[in-house]
Amino acid sequence: MKLTKLRKRKKYIVHYSVSSQVTGAGQGIGRELAIGYASLGATVVCWDINKEINEQTVDEIKKISESSVYGYRCDVSDKDEVFKTAEKVRKEVGDVTILVNNAGIAPIQTFENYNTDEISKVINVNFMAHYWASIMFI
Ligand SMILES: NC(=O)c1ccc[n+]([C@@H]2O[C@H](COP(=O)([O-])OP(=O)(O)OC[C@H]3O[C@@H](n4cnc5c(N)ncnc54)[C@H](O)[C@@H]3O)[C@@H](O)[C@H]2O)c1
Repeated sequence: MKLTKLRKRKKYIVHYSVSSQVTGAGQGIGRELAIGYASLGATVVCWDINKEINEQTVDEIKKISESSVYGYRCDVSDKDEVFKTAEKVRKEVGDVTILVNNAGIAPIQTFENYNTDEISKVINVNFMAHYWASIMFI
């Protein structure tokens, strides 16, 4: 067991051998989680569709912690890309013990104004992507 919950103190301890992977690490909740895991000593793998902001998160982690950190550009809604990138991670980083399926989109508009491509995109990013990444790391 890599993540230990101390019931009385309600605190999680992340051991040094943990590799956590966060999708959508470029900004928002994903970025904060990636930085949080790194500050607890975990090796962190950052994935985002946006290479530039993902690299900013990687650089920030390098500045504030001694944890190993890796960045990969990946569109989590693209099954083949997820499989390829996950293989790369396995070779270059090793096993991932915590997977955070965080990447998501929320285009806000009224239902009748969605086009079919947008509906597919929402389902692929917010739903199917969880399966593609989970299959590869479980
Ligand atoms: N912020 C909220 O109030 C809130 C509420 C409910 C649910 N959520 C969910 O929590 C998650 C994070 O929210 P947030 O506010 O930090 O979002 P955000 O929009 O700030 O960040 C999402 C990140 O995911 C990345 N991303 C988008 N599509 C991607 C794809 N196809 N492949 C890889 N990366 C992709 C973006 O580039 C971005 O860095 C999302 O799934 C969101 O739907 C957020």
